[in-house]
Amino acid sequence: MQVFKEKEPLKFAIATLKSEGKSLGLVPTMGALHEGHLSLVKEALKACDKVVVSIFVNPTQFNNATDLEKYPRTLEKDLELLKQLDQDLWIFAPNANELYGENIISEHFDFDGLENVMEGKFRNGHFDGVGTIVKRLFNIVTPDKAFFGEKDFQQLQIIRKLTEKSNLPVEIVGCPILREDSGLARSSRNERLSDSHREEASFIYKTLLETKELFGTKSAEYITRWVEEQFQSHPFLELEYFEIANTKTLKKINHKRKGNQYRAFIAAYANDVRLIDNIALNN
Ligand code: PAJ
Repeated sequence: MQVFKEKEPLKFAIATLKSEGKSLGLVPTMGALHEGHLSLVKEALKACDKVVVSIFVNPTQFNNATDLEKYPRTLEKDLELLKQLDQDLWIFAPNANELYGENIISEHFDFDGLENVMEGKFRNGHFDGVGTIVKRLFNIVTPDKAFFGEKDFQQLQIIRKLTEKSNLPVEIVGCPILREDSGLARSSRNERLSDSHREEASFIYKTLLETKELFGTKSAEYITRWVEEQFQSHPFLELEYFEIANTKTLKKINHKRKGNQYRAFIAAYANDVRLIDNIALNN
């Protein structure tokens, strides 16, 4: 396994790889790796000759200084997990200066409205930060395929829009959500929950499963009210938003239309830990 801290040696290695006609996959991460991240790397290894995993806690996508500060940084442990998975991985673990230079600021993007709902509404500027860093990573690594989790479904759709609008020659591959045994979506933030809260937080996924059941027969208004009531009577989980939206446009559902795909999305707090999850309602 090779670890690159600087972009120039990585670009050189990639140029050599490409001259041999080999395909390249990229898995962007912010580290603190868990099984969810590793499932993306496994997908990438199946689909590409060589895989780059990037590890970089991107300051411009945090809208809150304490959240950035508290974000776990576990590089040594991450490298160990990746080495156990595959000896041939290339890891790109740069510092902020290497990616941003002196000015740690985001570019502004228009993602045709995808950026203004849900996570975009509650985390101001978040998707400008994500767009900025992913575009830079794509420019440096020039992958044939890049792998993103459906755990952050809005992010996945935004990256698809970014590549379409900027005409970037990369295929975006969406990967299913990996869950703990309880059903809770795997996340580095789960480490901050007490054991009992961690088990109880699977309530989010259980509510999504019931939403999917109800979607067959009930209106979106009915389901939304029902979900809000479920959370109101929950001892510690606090709902930030629940939304049923069109899978493609992420616009809130008006009327169910045949042929359209819909997903339900939840963001909720367990004390100060913010958790998100989503589910496909029809296939
Ligand atoms: P991070 O939160 O580290 O996630 C990296 C990738 O892992 C994302 O594509 C995310 O959707 C995926 N992922 C996380 N938990 C998952 C799970 N339980 N199942 C499946 N996939 C999961 O997302 C980011 O970093 C950043 O925004 C990034 C894209 C790296 C840009 O900075």
